[in-house]
Amino acid sequence: MSRIPRRPRVVAHRGASGTLPEHTLAAYEQALREGADGLECDVRLTSDGHLVCTHDRRIDRTSTGTGLVSEHTLDSLSDLDFGSWHPSDDAEPAGVLTLDTLIELVLDHKAPTKLFIETKHPVRYGGLVESRLLGTLSRYGLATPPSANHARVVVMSFSAAAVWRVRRSAPLLPTVLLGEMSRYLGGGAAMTVGATAVGPSIRALHRHPDLVDRAAAAGRATYCWTVDEPDDIRLCRDLGVGWIATNHPGRTRELLEAR
Ligand code: G3P
Ligand code: CA
Repeated sequence: MSRIPRRPRVVAHRGASGTLPEHTLAAYEQALREGADGLECDVRLTSDGHLVCTHDRRIDRTSTGTGLVSEHTLDSLSDLDFGSWHPSDDAEPAGVLTLDTLIELVLDHKAPTKLFIETKHPVRYGGLVESRLLGTLSRYGLATPPSANHARVVVMSFSAAAVWRVRRSAPLLPTVLLGEMSRYLGGGAAMTVGATAVGPSIRALHRHPDLVDRAAAAGRATYCWTVDEPDDIRLCRDLGVGWIATNHPGRTRELLEAR
């Protein structure tokens, strides 16, 4: 009997951010309703040491405030609206999303959804982002999963140093080294720092589709971002990519499940 290849798992990039404001609770709840296998978020540190889910260094694009995330306390971010900037008719006012709230959403969900947490600019803080992150994960019992397959959290970074620090402090946590260059990802950096998966962009995968097989030969999974176009979704499926991050989890899942 021939084996049916497993479809790529669908990760909601910043939540269902194609339809609702990114990094809001509403966008993540929508992604879960659409059947996402995983949720992706970026984390940054506030000036008083809290981890909040936001992509940009500044809050201007996605909130009613201005300035750097790192210059605001959690209290001052909590006074702002992170939802109404979005053009969608369904967008509603939303508070800043803390990593704690997102973790609780994932743990309360009945399916074993994984949370892919990307540390943004961790080098600037000399390891503080990772140590805060690991402290948070430990509080929820998530830093020492029984196996990589059973882990509810995956830590990701463009910084090899950040991945290396996470592997050293929490060797059981799965990790993804993100990057644009196939030679960097497939040629040893991911292996050197002990990342359990390589994370090329879809652009990099188009240039070097052999990356998936090279990663697999080295015992690494592949996580590809950000994959919204039907032809790109099919390419990832045909190459055997393990995880794809998309802004449209519902329609991506439907496309992958249509035979
Ligand atoms: O999932 C990885 C991807 O999110 C990296 O790019 O800029 O969207 O954080 P960015
Ligand atoms: Ca990200």
